[in-house]
Amino acid sequence: MIISHSPAETLAHGRAIAATLRGGEVLALDGDLGTGKTHFVKGLAAGLGHVGDVTSPTFTLVHEYTGGRIPLFHFDFYRLAAADEVLQLGLDDYLDSGGVLAIEWAGKFPSLLPRDARRFTFRAGPGETREISET
Ligand SMILES: Nc1ncnc2c1ncn2[C@@H]1O[C@H](COP(=O)(O)OP(=O)(O)OP(=O)(O)O)[C@@H](O)[C@H]1O
Ligand SMILES: [Mg+2]
Repeated sequence: MIISHSPAETLAHGRAIAATLRGGEVLALDGDLGTGKTHFVKGLAAGLGHVGDVTSPTFTLVHEYTGGRIPLFHFDFYRLAAADEVLQLGLDDYLDSGGVLAIEWAGKFPSLLPRDARRFTFRAGPGETREISET
């Protein structure tokens, strides 16, 4: 568990986690609105060597970052109503791609996640503090 004191620290934590990735991992990110999941993914992307901005995938549902050390696929399940919609996004192909999947609100559809997914929980504390724990 780490305590982040600023958005920059959450980015740095994402970078640190990126350094541990070899490809093929699924990172399941859960926590209330505004607790830093997207900031963490920005750090992942930077740490994997992707240039360009990471935006919230609220409207496209999956953003693809290629050109870094490992491809990164950024999902957000928040607006999806049914597991079926996730499968229609081509989840299985992404899982087989050898890239890293970072999934915000992954806990909405736990049955879709591989058993070995790495689970991160984000909690807001006072002010700008955010608790990020890998469970
Ligand atoms: N320590 C911190 N780490 C990350 N973000 C922080 C921190 N302190 C304040 N913030 C603010 O909290 C918000 C986090 O937004 P972010 O989009 O990363 O959250 P999220 O968990 O992805 O939310 P959502 O569930 O809506 O997608 C931003 O406005 C950011 O500036
Ligand atoms: Mg987000």
